[in-house]
Amino acid sequence: MAASEGVLAGGASPDGVEDGAPVLIIGAGAAGLRTAIELARSGVDCLVVGKRRHGDAHTRWAAGGVNAVLGTLDPDDRWDIHAADTIREGGYICDPRSVELLARESPARVMELADWGCPFDRTAEGRINQRYFGAQSFRRTCFVGDVTGQAMLDSLVDKARELHIPFREDIFITRVLVRSGSVGGALGLDLESGAPLHFPASSVVLAAGGCTSLYRRSSSRDDENTGDAVALAYDAGTALRDMEMIQFHPTGMTAPEEMRGRLVTEAVRGEGGRLFNVRGERFMERHAPDQMELAARDVVARAIWQELRAGRGTEGGGVLLDISHQDPDMVRERLPSIHGRFLDQGIDITSEPMEVAPTAHYPMGGVVVDADTGATSVAGLYAVGEAAAGVHGANRLGGNSLAETLVFGRRVAADIVRDLETDGPDGRLSPDPADWERHVTRVDATRTARGEHDPEDLMARLRGIMWEHGGIVRSGDGLRAGLAELEVLTRHARDLDVAGSRAGPHALARALTLPFALLAAEAILRSALLRDESRGAHYREDHPEGHPEDRTAAGTARLVNIVCRRGRDGGMRLSTSPVPPIPPVIQQALAEHHALDYHHLE
Ligand code: FUM
Repeated sequence: MAASEGVLAGGASPDGVEDGAPVLIIGAGAAGLRTAIELARSGVDCLVVGKRRHGDAHTRWAAGGVNAVLGTLDPDDRWDIHAADTIREGGYICDPRSVELLARESPARVMELADWGCPFDRTAEGRINQRYFGAQSFRRTCFVGDVTGQAMLDSLVDKARELHIPFREDIFITRVLVRSGSVGGALGLDLESGAPLHFPASSVVLAAGGCTSLYRRSSSRDDENTGDAVALAYDAGTALRDMEMIQFHPTGMTAPEEMRGRLVTEAVRGEGGRLFNVRGERFMERHAPDQMELAARDVVARAIWQELRAGRGTEGGGVLLDISHQDPDMVRERLPSIHGRFLDQGIDITSEPMEVAPTAHYPMGGVVVDADTGATSVAGLYAVGEAAAGVHGANRLGGNSLAETLVFGRRVAADIVRDLETDGPDGRLSPDPADWERHVTRVDATRTARGEHDPEDLMARLRGIMWEHGGIVRSGDGLRAGLAELEVLTRHARDLDVAGSRAGPHALARALTLPFALLAAEAILRSALLRDESRGAHYREDHPEGHPEDRTAAGTARLVNIVCRRGRDGGMRLSTSPVPPIPPVIQQALAEHHALDYHHLE
């Protein structure tokens, strides 16, 4: 069991019960750490657990920026316009209250992070600089070159260390314990030693990311974003919302094989990058003549998909993204990571184009939470960041996810503090011997399983099914075929060969991840089948109706969220719930029809 440098680590007793803390935070990215920092500042103990070493969470891979209305370059920007942009591009199914909080509070959270040392790019006057990002009416994306997530996470890790927040790496949580409708802790294991562990806690925060590595091509590493948070929440008895809404980022790398899907940040287009097909046509002129390459992500991703389908892609299955017309010094300064990464492949982006294709990037759906507090329907269970539904609706604005981690991390912590003040400091349950026994038996039986199917192969098959049937363009028939294939896979997952797996030391974790991934996949495909319309990132070629705004005007839009939860018989049950009304101040901003005019960039 490894303790991260300079950070306190908990210790397991021989029976696997951790000393722990009243609050367990699952996930050590920006959302988990921002929650932990607020708890520590309020004098509440917590333990943060993550699958990787401190500072290596998925936030590190977030590149282009974080949104906050600072008005540095565009003083006309306002929080309500940020909210309107978010709701419009979210296909009008965002939770309006979540959006309002995000837009109102992100400026203070970004300034605070700057005070903690995050080295945001500055203007000559010393103000935090802002760049264009897709589908936003003004420049409101604050950035650190093209390594914003890394810089933010480094600052949060430093702050967490300064506050002596305990962190345990190599921890995989497999179950949240719930008794009589309240959280009592969690079960998991040490990924290094394989030892089963029990973490007593009276509050558990799910900050364990999303589920996009269920797709053949994704901007995630294989062992993260595997649906852990949504599956843990679902198993604990809470509901999931809008799971069909998966964002495909328009620009992922196409080669080499091991880099396929890796993010080519939107900042390339925000700094003026242009997209061309192999005929040299700037095809966005046909698809979004006003916003061009900075149209909403779903629009650009579908445009590329159409170019590829029409045979106008490269041999490597991509299109070309070119920023070579811009000043090379600016490119090197603003896009250092992308510049270096392509240079490693022998491509100098200051003089030649990159090959790119869409990649699964972010789930807009997730755990249903209270907008103000991040609380779920299970007392003591919270979800925050990519794990939670609400802010992004049908399509997320680039830069809103990093903002969400800061705003709602703080809010979740504030609610836990309030709760502890009301209910007393420690509602931790002592471990239930039966729960513990079952857990140890399951971990042991899985580790030594000598069945038919390698978990690694099943995961690869799952990624293929999701890419084919739950991808950028969907249809009723395709979704039904995907669900049928998923059923077969689920049967095979009951007969695993873990002991002989080609995943070697990672086989146990892969095997225990599979049920999470299958659950998330089922929720995505079932919700996509129920949503028989096209909206944002969810495009049904058998229901290709036009822009949601037009349909709202025509009175035919289905402004609903799709909710799924476990039924009494153990099966997944889906329902719809109406989207709450948009507050008048945001409606007014929507009516003002602000929009990014791409041609500013030309
Ligand atoms: O393209 C990007 O840099 C991604 C940013 C985001 O998804 O927020």
